[in-house]
Amino acid sequence: MPEDLKVLVFDPGARGHVISDAYERSHRVRKIIVAPGNDFIGFYRHKEVVVDENCDLKNLDSMLAIAKKYRPDLIDVAQDDAIASGVGDILREHGFVVFCPSRVAAQIEWDKKWSREFMIRHRIPTPQFNAFSSTRIAERFVDEFYGENPYDARSDALYVKAAGLAEGKGALRATSYQEAVACIRRMSWFGEAGRTFLIERGLSGEEFSYTVMADGTGVYHAFKPAQDYKLALPFDEGDQTGGMGCIARTHVIEPLSRAEIEQELVIKALDGMVAEGRPYIGILYVGGMKVRDESVSSGYKPYCIEFNSRWGDPEAQVVLPGVSNYAELAIATVEGRLGQKVIIEDALYRVCLVGATRGYPRDYHAALGKRIYGLKEAINCPFVEIFGAGIKMEGRKFYTNGGRLFSVVGRGPDLLRAYERALTAMSRIYIEGNNLQWRTDIGWQDRDMLLRSL
Ligand code: GLY
Repeated sequence: MPEDLKVLVFDPGARGHVISDAYERSHRVRKIIVAPGNDFIGFYRHKEVVVDENCDLKNLDSMLAIAKKYRPDLIDVAQDDAIASGVGDILREHGFVVFCPSRVAAQIEWDKKWSREFMIRHRIPTPQFNAFSSTRIAERFVDEFYGENPYDARSDALYVKAAGLAEGKGALRATSYQEAVACIRRMSWFGEAGRTFLIERGLSGEEFSYTVMADGTGVYHAFKPAQDYKLALPFDEGDQTGGMGCIARTHVIEPLSRAEIEQELVIKALDGMVAEGRPYIGILYVGGMKVRDESVSSGYKPYCIEFNSRWGDPEAQVVLPGVSNYAELAIATVEGRLGQKVIIEDALYRVCLVGATRGYPRDYHAALGKRIYGLKEAINCPFVEIFGAGIKMEGRKFYTNGGRLFSVVGRGPDLLRAYERALTAMSRIYIEGNNLQWRTDIGWQDRDMLLRSL
């Protein structure tokens, strides 16, 4: 691997922005290409950054053409559809060095039925589930589950989940027979991804996100634990989104130790992948839950809600800015020598507030093409970074061009200061016609804990 690297990142959103930033911090990286990226990624960069919008992450030929055009030394496939397409394997066959799991290893994300069965095979704690491809049989199942009071909302929650990839929006929650039937019928909205779906028993507990980098030899490194907020509106209301905010690090995992989480959820998964002939090389994201369990000494047990074969978005935005040797870690991973490296990361807290277009994730078309004001003022706020997603530029002006628009990330020595800084920056931003939507309550559990301890 040369000393002045050219790195290509495949991702369209804020995750691609923050990953490209992480590569930029390496003295070994000279140039970064992001495809398809977005109009905000090229701003305020120290090194040469090219955004090539002529790339379709659902089209293998399109991605291969981009790789052949730029001939990068390292390719980071960061987006779920792209990873699931197997483009990593194809690029490797063409002689490129690629940082992402193989298609068969990534099945842990793109096939949720396979993934749950894998968890059962390797005794990874997981919610009870049933898989369906018939709406009628699924409806009979929920009828039996909710018993003789089908029209009363009960506290027992069920999750109806598309087995395929659905941009993070494929898990629907129900607490009554009627809601469950509506969720089952909505599986058809996800097309092929919802043809097979799971119905899972809801667990109660605190959710957390745990991300590791693994090199397939049994070695892995874990990043700071994070907490993601998936629902559209404050107080955890509204629809599932791709993620409306995040914090890292989080203390909601306590009293579980990181070692317990890793033993139950990470090591069993990585060992299981090796045992099944699919060594896992790349980023593994664990969507976990801390569940009360009196039978264990800490009183809690970690459960796996999902595995993803890539960075979470917005988890990447609160973890990666604190990491100063990402390129070196990625290279060591693809070369199978991650054991020679440690993660160099700061001890700061970060809060990410995602700015979305009003109406997201449902119908936000009326709010597209609207002018975004105040982004430059927000970037100039101290201890704040902004990562772009659905932003389009005309001249020097910014316009809305998608559901999730940008991630505002504040950092500080504690969560209160990080939150305050993100909030100050977000308050500078305005979208024509009052079309900015964001959540004010990101990180409330950790802020609550901190305030009570003062
Ligand atoms: N934030 C969760 C995900 O990216 O899937």
